[in-house]
Amino acid sequence: MGGAMSFSKWVFVVFVLHLLNPCPVRFSYGSSSSNGLSDIPKKLLNFAKRQELVGWMIGIRRKIHQNPELGYQEFETSQLIRSELDKMGIKYKHPVAVTGVVGFIGTGEPPFVALRADMDSLPLQEMVEWEYKSKIPGKMHACGHDGHVTMLLGAAKILQEHREELKGTVVLVFQPAEEGGGGAHKVLEAGVLEKVNAIFGLHVDPNLPIGEVASRPGPLLAGSGFFEAVIGGKGGHAAIPQHSIDPILAASNVIVSLQHLVSREADPLDSQVVTVAKFQGGGAFNVIPDSVLIGGTFRAFSKESFTQLKQRIEEVIIGQAAVQRCSATVDFLSKEKPFFPPTINNNDLHKYFQTVAGDMLDTQKVKVMAPVMGSEDFSFYQEVMPGYFFFLGMKNETLGKVESTHSPYFTLNEDALPYGAALHASLALRYLLEFGPEISLPEGNYRDEL
Ligand SMILES: *[C@@H]1O[C@H](CO)[C@@H](O)[C@H](O)[C@H]1NC(C)=O
Ligand SMILES: [Zn+2]
Ligand SMILES: [Zn+2]
Repeated sequence: MGGAMSFSKWVFVVFVLHLLNPCPVRFSYGSSSSNGLSDIPKKLLNFAKRQELVGWMIGIRRKIHQNPELGYQEFETSQLIRSELDKMGIKYKHPVAVTGVVGFIGTGEPPFVALRADMDSLPLQEMVEWEYKSKIPGKMHACGHDGHVTMLLGAAKILQEHREELKGTVVLVFQPAEEGGGGAHKVLEAGVLEKVNAIFGLHVDPNLPIGEVASRPGPLLAGSGFFEAVIGGKGGHAAIPQHSIDPILAASNVIVSLQHLVSREADPLDSQVVTVAKFQGGGAFNVIPDSVLIGGTFRAFSKESFTQLKQRIEEVIIGQAAVQRCSATVDFLSKEKPFFPPTINNNDLHKYFQTVAGDMLDTQKVKVMAPVMGSEDFSFYQEVMPGYFFFLGMKNETLGKVESTHSPYFTLNEDALPYGAALHASLALRYLLEFGPEISLPEGNYRDEL
């Protein structure tokens, strides 16, 4: 993996290069500001806000919204992406991780900077009544991934129109199955991102004003895992408990004991969550059931805390069930729902993001936020390459209250589309201009195409 070089080293290399070459030609972009780079984000936002581009993006977003597809089933979404890339003359690889599409714009040479959008919807019945409501019963784009795909296609259009200015290659990652399916992990396994120097991803945020962005350096989102346990006893007549082994009581004690993991065993300054969200057992007023199924999620911000929590969840369920003479089996469902690592933003990319977003939106519109216990499979990319994830504002008071993501009443503010497209495009284009030549210098053996 390239690109692990620190920014201070890059700055040093720039300095040295400038000493060797007294008339640098790299920063030829723009003219008014010191090096021209700071003009790029505003210029691309204006480009993205042009009527024809906005209209085209809205059309794409509504088409995807009407045809939501679940993880690894995004066949039509994938088809739509490819046909738009074809129209723009952008080359791509497909299939990547079943339905994924990975496009390439620029020289085909290093450095490589990646932009990621997730494609999947949720198993949810849309309750919003509007012209472009989901046509598929029980499926809905309630997390804004229809917008994410559209923004990345918007960025593709912007970048393709500015391809002469790309000093390297932009990699467009249209990724399947973010909602629990770990599509990012599958994309990495496909080996298409091995030479990527940095990756950026975004998520729409209904509670952040439009025109603002928010993120933070270091840990942003928690690592997450799921568990399911069957607590087995012996069923019988509810009036004669001495002839049964009651799994309802055992499961109840298990749940109470699980609550003590965070309150008594975790460092209070190290945020963690254990939630039992599922409790299924029994079906009659007068029958003690044979078994009870419980399930839930656990979250932590470090690998150590996460591993510790996982081990203790298993021990507590089995141990506490045994107190009531019940057996227990614990399943962490890691095949269907792979553990997501914590989303940890690269510190240097945070500084870079603040500069680019600040140039586009104004520095007061670029917020540093507290970490949240939600999770994102973008974290898989960050485990193997410098990555940066941020939230994109969507709230507009005059349009009324927006429901949160994963609500059947969720709505996406389409006014945010040009912001997302322009941020993606600016982050990529400027990254290649600013850091491109330095990144490839030390290794220098990246001739082959990605
Ligand atoms: C908020 O919504 C109103 C009404 O549609 C619109 O006129 C205004 O431009 C929007 N604000 C932003 C920042 O998009
Ligand atoms: Zn979601
Ligand atoms: Zn999402």
